[in-house]
Amino acid sequence: MALPFAGKHCVVVGATGVIGSSIAKAFSHQGAVISLLGRSALDARPRLEPQLRPYSLPGTDTAIAIPTAHQFIRLDASDREQIKAVFDGTTIGPIDILVNCAGISQTTLLKRTPDEELSAIVDTNLLATMLICKHAKMRPNGCIINISSLMATKGGLGATAYAASKAGVIGFTRALCREMASRSIRVNALLPGWVNGSMWTGMYILPPISSSIDTQCLFLLYPS
Ligand SMILES: NC(=O)c1ccc[n+]([C@@H]2O[C@H](COP(=O)([O-])OP(=O)(O)OC[C@H]3O[C@@H](n4cnc5c(N)ncnc54)[C@H](OP(=O)(O)O)[C@@H]3O)[C@@H](O)[C@H]2O)c1
Repeated sequence: MALPFAGKHCVVVGATGVIGSSIAKAFSHQGAVISLLGRSALDARPRLEPQLRPYSLPGTDTAIAIPTAHQFIRLDASDREQIKAVFDGTTIGPIDILVNCAGISQTTLLKRTPDEELSAIVDTNLLATMLICKHAKMRPNGCIINISSLMATKGGLGATAYAASKAGVIGFTRALCREMASRSIRVNALLPGWVNGSMWTGMYILPPISSSIDTQCLFLLYPS
């Protein structure tokens, strides 16, 4: 029996990280062919490729214009020109599932966060998501999944720019969803809670101080 995503092309931006690599792996195990993007995509290939289910085109339908194997593509999502070049329709062909998962965190209070870092957080977490959605060649009936964060709704000490960028992703997703409806492309945002990984290295974490507070809402403390 064919797997549910057989013949589908899934593009994961930020596929080298904890969440993105799991998403890429999950879609591959459901039959999709995956394009894995990130600044370190080529270096990550030896580690990630064995975790993917090898792709095989369903049946003999060679007319499907999707990659014939999983591909690893270097992309710095904070670079607008790179986004345009990679999503121009030749490097990355038509897309059925687009996952915007590239993100950087913040580990300092606003007053202590350099202006350049505030800008980089917004560029990587929000602007890149917009530009990729703009330039990606989505197939009709496809779907876009933008990774936001619970921080967008709950906030967190030392996460001002991060929370703002992720709240922006939610607003952007809601609006884009209306624009894409006529082509039957679904656009959704995912708001993960805490997922252990390198993103939060360097933070001091206190457990929730009250059971009435969502256990996913962490309170973060920083050294002076
Ligand atoms: N971990 C959590 O607790 C948590 C909770 C809620 C939401 N999220 C969100 O989930 C997403 C993935 O987080 P994660 O925990 O998997 O973090 P991670 O392990 O640090 O992965 C971050 C990913 O983003 C990519 N990335 C960062 N800057 C990039 C850039 N300029 N261009 C291209 N790719 C870039 C990284 O790839 P390269 O280094 O190869 O470029 C990597 O694949 C992020 O958007 C994050 O905000 C995470």
